Order: sequence, then structure tokens, then C-alpha cells
Amino acid sequence: MPPVPRLPWRLAAPLLAAFVSVPFILPLALPLLRSSSTSPRALSQHRLSWLPSPLIQTAPMAPPPRVPSPPLPMQIPASPPPPPMQTTPFPPPPPSPSPPPPETPANDDRRVRRFNATDFLARLRGKRLMLVGDSMNRNQFESLLCILREALPDKTRMFETHGYRISKGRGYFVFKFADYDCTVEFVRSHFLVREGVRFNRQRNSNPILQIDRVDKTANRWKKADVLVFNTGHWWTHGKTARGKNYHKEGDTLYPHFDSAEAYRRALKTWARWIDKNMDPARSVVFYRGYSTAHFRGGDWDSGGSCNGETEPTFKGAIIDSYPLKMRIVEEAIGRMRFPVRLLNVTKLTNFRRDGHPSVHGKAGDKKVSKRKQDCSHWCLPGVPDAWNELIYASLVLEPNPVAWEKR
Ligand SMILES: *[C@@H]1O[C@H](CO)[C@@H](O)[C@H](O)[C@H]1NC(C)=O
Ligand SMILES: *[C@@H]1O[C@H](CO)[C@@H](O)[C@H](O)[C@H]1NC(C)=O
Repeated sequence: MPPVPRLPWRLAAPLLAAFVSVPFILPLALPLLRSSSTSPRALSQHRLSWLPSPLIQTAPMAPPPRVPSPPLPMQIPASPPPPPMQTTPFPPPPPSPSPPPPETPANDDRRVRRFNATDFLARLRGKRLMLVGDSMNRNQFESLLCILREALPDKTRMFETHGYRISKGRGYFVFKFADYDCTVEFVRSHFLVREGVRFNRQRNSNPILQIDRVDKTANRWKKADVLVFNTGHWWTHGKTARGKNYHKEGDTLYPHFDSAEAYRRALKTWARWIDKNMDPARSVVFYRGYSTAHFRGGDWDSGGSCNGETEPTFKGAIIDSYPLKMRIVEEAIGRMRFPVRLLNVTKLTNFRRDGHPSVHGKAGDKKVSKRKQDCSHWCLPGVPDAWNELIYASLVLEPNPVAWEKR
């Protein structure tokens, strides 16, 4: 096995911070639990078992070995309007020259377990893991397929059940890992709430967003044992951001509506659905937090770029940026009965201006316009691998639902 590149210590810190926040708002939750554990609003007792204190001292994290693998049967999708999705392998960064994190003794099982794809698959045996969201979640889905596939001696034992190739055009994929009788699935849902159309007097159709109704794909969500949600990037684009005759609640189509408030109400709709339809004794639900884009000198649609970056950034306002949308996510999750696990990855993504496909998003000699770069998705292997490692670590530390343990 080649030497394992060590994670620079400065990057390990935000990784840890992200993990530690998986036990969502525990500090806030404790007084609540003490004072009102009988109220229907009380945060689940479940969160108590998430006390992360031993974690903080004893969790050196290193990335998994980067083993080059034959390419998955994937296509490189064409640029979609909002953040373009591209999936080209990118050479992993050279091992960092910074000193490795100090070795600390393993004291108990609360330590963040090093990623182990075989063990991850064993834990998923007989289960369905589903990622639901926009193309950032598809990025994470592809990462998960790649890192789990590494554990298979026979790569043909993993396949899309209908033979579909991953492309932007399709909104649902089911990859089966036959030896473990488990699936890793992706369900496209840009907003988690329902997209629709309305016809005006001239019979022209216009898109609308029903922020008080959950997305049509929700009937699929119910069937999963592990769910990973996300929505975010689409709320800053075009019609959603402008909010003109677009957001609908009940029978009301708002002539103007604020996008942040729409996001708040949409997450509330999603949260209500989870609380009503998902059983914490049977399923684990993650919400993956906002993933930072790094456009210089413009945005995704106005000539912003990120080419030529070769190192993470360690300074500047971006390091501490934490979008309002994340506060809204915290607020929504904090009010839920279902103990949703927040993957608070925002900070760790803040550093990685060097991790985007930029102009390298197209295979071979197909030229990508320097004008329209992809500085929102991530190269693989790369940043989303860390998000999936956190999911694994979370499932190791807290393998609830209890029902799974009894099998
Ligand atoms: C998520 O991380 C950010 C930045 O690291 C931090 O400010 C915020 O409080 C964290 N949220 C939770 C719920 O832990
Ligand atoms: C990974 O997990 C498998 C299955 O539990 C185990 O046999 C193997 O020793 C683990 N590998 C490492 C490096 O810990």
C-alpha cells in the first residue's frame, strides 16, 4: 500500500469541528432536555448519547489512501444552468509537507474511526442509503460510489440496477452492491419542496415553487434507511432569488418574495414531513450543510473563475463565512422531533478554493470555456470524500436506530 498522505493539521481542525457538530446543538439542547423533556417540542434524548467530549482530544483524522481506480460508468454531464455539474477525475494533491498530527492513543470507541469501506458496506448490509438534493449531492453520491467500490475485489458486483449511466438528464439512480445486498441511491430534488408550473392569461407556462408542499420525490425518501439531504445552491439563482410570481403557498402566488424567507419555509415543510413520515427507530437522517463555492471576479454565470489554484486558502473573510442559510438550517433542525444529524461541512469547504473542477471539468481535449468555470462542484477524489467519511464515522459512533443493532 502506498504511504497515506496526511491531512494538514490545519485542515483536520475544521474536519473535526464539522464532526463535533454532528451532535446537533447539544449545548443548546441540554437545558431544554432538563426543563421540558415531556413537551412534544423537547429535543430527542437520543442526542444525549452524542456528547462529543472525548472526541475532541483523541481524533486525528487522515484521509483514506487514494487508490486510483478504473473509471466508473459515468458520463460527463453538460453544463446545466445553475452550478454546472462535471465529474472528471482530478489528480489528488501531493502529500502535504506539513507535519502529521500528533499521534494520540485510542482510548475508546468514541474516537473518529478511520474510514473503512469494507466495514461501511457491512454496516449497510440489506439497507438503502439515499442522497436527496441538487447536483452537489450528486457530487457526494459519486464520491460515495467510488470510495465504497474500492472495497470490492470484483468491481462488476456493483452496478446501476437499470444500467443507467450517471448523467445530468436523469433524476434517479440506484446502485446495487450485490455482495452486501445494499443500495446507494440518488434522488434529484433541487429544492426539497415541489416545483410546478402555472399558466398565465396568454397560456404561457411559468415555473413556480410550492414552498408549503414537499417534493414529489418524497414517496421515494420513505423507503431509505439512511437519508442524506441538501438544498442550497439553487436558492441563489435566477427565478428563485428574484422571487417574482414564483413562490406559492396554499393558493397564494406571491408577486414578490424574499428568497431567504422562502428557504426558511421550505425547510420547515421538509422538517414537518420528516417528523411525520420517518421513524427515528428505523432510519438515520443527515442534512449536509452548505458547500462553499470559490468564484473570483464574478459568479458562476458572470465570468467568475478559480483556475490556477493549487493550495487551500488559510486567510480571508471566506474562512469564517457561515451563510444565513446555515442558520436557517440550524433553526429548522433544532425544532424537529426527529434527531437529524447535521453534517456541518461549511467551514471545511471554505478552505478548499483549490478543489473545484474549474476549467478541468471536461475529459480529453474538449475545451472548457475560461469564461464559465465550475467553482462550486468538487473534483473527485476530493472534498466530498470527507463528507462521506463523516457519515461513516457518525454511523460507527452512533449506529442507532436501535432496531439495526438487534439484527
Ligand atoms: C457549524 O460550523 C460553524 C463554523 O465552523 C459554526 O459557527 C456553527 O456554530 C456550527 N453549527 C453547529 C450547529 O454546530
Ligand atoms: C475494515 O473492516 C473490515 C471488516 O470489518 C475488517 O476486517 C478490516 O480489518 C478493517 N480494516 C482496517 C484497516 O481496519
